[in-house]
Amino acid sequence: MSRIAYVDGRYVPHSHAQVSMDDRGYQFADGVYEVVTIRQKRMVDELGHLARLDRSLRELEIERPMKERPMRQIMRRLVTLNKVENGILYIQITRGVARRDHAFPADANAVLVVSARPTRPHPAAYIEDGVSVISIPDIRWARRDIKSTSLLPNVLGKQQAVEAGAFEAWMVDDAGDVTEGTASNAWIVTKEGHIITRNLGTEILSGITRLAVLKIAQESQIKIVERSFTLEEAKQAAEAFVTSASAFVMPVTQIDGSAIGAGKPGPISQKLRAAYIAFMELEPLISNELE
Ligand code: PDD
Repeated sequence: MSRIAYVDGRYVPHSHAQVSMDDRGYQFADGVYEVVTIRQKRMVDELGHLARLDRSLRELEIERPMKERPMRQIMRRLVTLNKVENGILYIQITRGVARRDHAFPADANAVLVVSARPTRPHPAAYIEDGVSVISIPDIRWARRDIKSTSLLPNVLGKQQAVEAGAFEAWMVDDAGDVTEGTASNAWIVTKEGHIITRNLGTEILSGITRLAVLKIAQESQIKIVERSFTLEEAKQAAEAFVTSASAFVMPVTQIDGSAIGAGKPGPISQKLRAAYIAFMELEPLISNELE
């Protein structure tokens, strides 16, 4: 069976899923997106992702193409139609189709596309040995809190990571502080066992996984400090890890070639990863219809 996607009101075979060349997402990256994890046929933190999607839309003054409930039905239907047990759901909303002109069109309707696909489990070596990251300058725009499809600096950064054989690139601002990864939030653990991650603001994306992990850490009585940290502090940290919908909690054991802590995943990263996976598996099973 071929994959099915949802494009602007219709369910279509993925290979035929197309949007207009005048879509402002294509012309201007004038759109927003979300990536939701599907774990054991459960949608992870669905409402958190939808709330962030709403916020991104509001910040860019893009009108929602439909109410939340029908959208949640489409999301469920795609997971079921594509038989996704473990994978990701991708949601994108652009400002719509209009003759090319930078300013907002007077009469375009926002275009929603949704797709779902299975993903492979993380390689065992990532979890057993940890992954490496490189550092790069953060050259992005000043509104990184908006989950916009305008991802060119992130694309270039991730490519640099791949070429260096690294899992991720951590971006560093002009003050020498780490902002976040190209597609994940950045964390370190101090020698005292406190976890540090950058405070929210316009400089980073408010990761949905970040919020869940903060809650888990709080419940586990781990001390949390939301503040900036320098690359140097990260290199001297006891542990480091990244969080995202697709990486969950991923231990980082090398930054720019320097080993972090003992050079293997530390106890706090491992504990948070296990607790986050348990949290995902507590989500309700997806059924075709919303109750
Ligand atoms: N990336 N920071 C950036 C720049 C991101 O692109 C992402 C997510 C995150 C983590 O957010 P969350 O925990 O909500 O996934 C942080 C997604 C997975 C992506 O672009 O594919």
